[in-house]
Amino acid sequence: MGKINAAITGIHGYVPDYILTNKELETLVDTNDEWIVSRTGVKERRILKEEGKGSSELGTQAIKGLLAKTNTSAEDIDLIICATATPDMVFPSTACIIANKVGAKNAFAYDLMAACSGFLFALSTASKFIETGTYKKVIVVGADKMSSIVDYTERATCIIFGDGAGAVLLEPTEDGLGIQDAILRSDGAGMEFLHMKAGGSAKPASHATIDAKEHYIFQDGQPVFKAAVKSMADVSEEIMERNNLSADDVAWLVPHQANKRIIDATARRMGVGNEKVMLNIEKYGNTTNGTIPLCLWEWESKLNKGDNIILAAFGGGFTWGSIFIKWAYDSNK
Ligand code: UT7
Repeated sequence: MGKINAAITGIHGYVPDYILTNKELETLVDTNDEWIVSRTGVKERRILKEEGKGSSELGTQAIKGLLAKTNTSAEDIDLIICATATPDMVFPSTACIIANKVGAKNAFAYDLMAACSGFLFALSTASKFIETGTYKKVIVVGADKMSSIVDYTERATCIIFGDGAGAVLLEPTEDGLGIQDAILRSDGAGMEFLHMKAGGSAKPASHATIDAKEHYIFQDGQPVFKAAVKSMADVSEEIMERNNLSADDVAWLVPHQANKRIIDATARRMGVGNEKVMLNIEKYGNTTNGTIPLCLWEWESKLNKGDNIILAAFGGGFTWGSIFIKWAYDSNK
């Protein structure tokens, strides 16, 4: 028997209908389309407007689509891991809410929190359950309603983020394809530059924290930008080196979509041309845990069995990482 790898055998994404354009943002804060596009690459983002709906709504829609297109029964799912920075509630986990909504009655489910790197951390975690032969069908969903924690009076932050979700089905394969390698890192010293001040156990919600706007994303953009450029490029280069991949060997780079300039810098360091870089930041902005699976979903028809794909992310924590995948199926069939 060959070594068991975890392979992505299906992918689906979901974004809400409402489009928040740069033009509309110009009516909320002192900004303009030219600044936003040139500094970030974002032209518009999707927003989940309906009252009472959170990240579980986005994740549920992505998983329902995934189950339908892969012809998978919800009851056959063993495990759902939801990577989210914007859970519906502090508890129960958003994964539990999603599992119930999609009818995954036999699955256990939990959330994994690593900010914008969460999808990679969850994918790597999920792969171990498959590689050890413990489970056969695991879903990883990255879902974030970033609009729920964005201050739409803060111009340096509100321009980047959007809402969305993507989900993948992982199954065992013994043909050498699937997830090959992962490099995951974290450094809590980065906390001071990117965090939410209140609403957790250290500083529970109160009238004072609401008045001080402490339930929104706090981001000191430049230090985060510098760390992101260096860290994402470092791990992407490292994973290529230790797997003997040249730039020519890489079919696709799938970067976290936080800022087009960070993505360009990562691709440059890897020596990978723009034509191999998945980029949809202009349509969706930074959907945190949604960015990487939303890219894979949109590019699915272009992916071929055996393609070498590098996923790379950086986010709050700080957390960052890269994963090397050999794509497991011809998607255009
Ligand atoms: O996904 C999680 C990880 N997060 C990231 O990777 C984000 C990393 N950081 C960034 O992408 C960038 O730092 C931002 C896009 C957030 C900000 O861009 P920046 O080039 O770092 O701008 P800045 O905050 O240093 O501001 C430069 C100038 C300032 O004006 P002055 O002080 O030079 O007069 C800002 O007030 O640009 C001004 N500015 C804006 N002007 C027009 C900041 N935001 C805006 C805006 N429109 N929206």
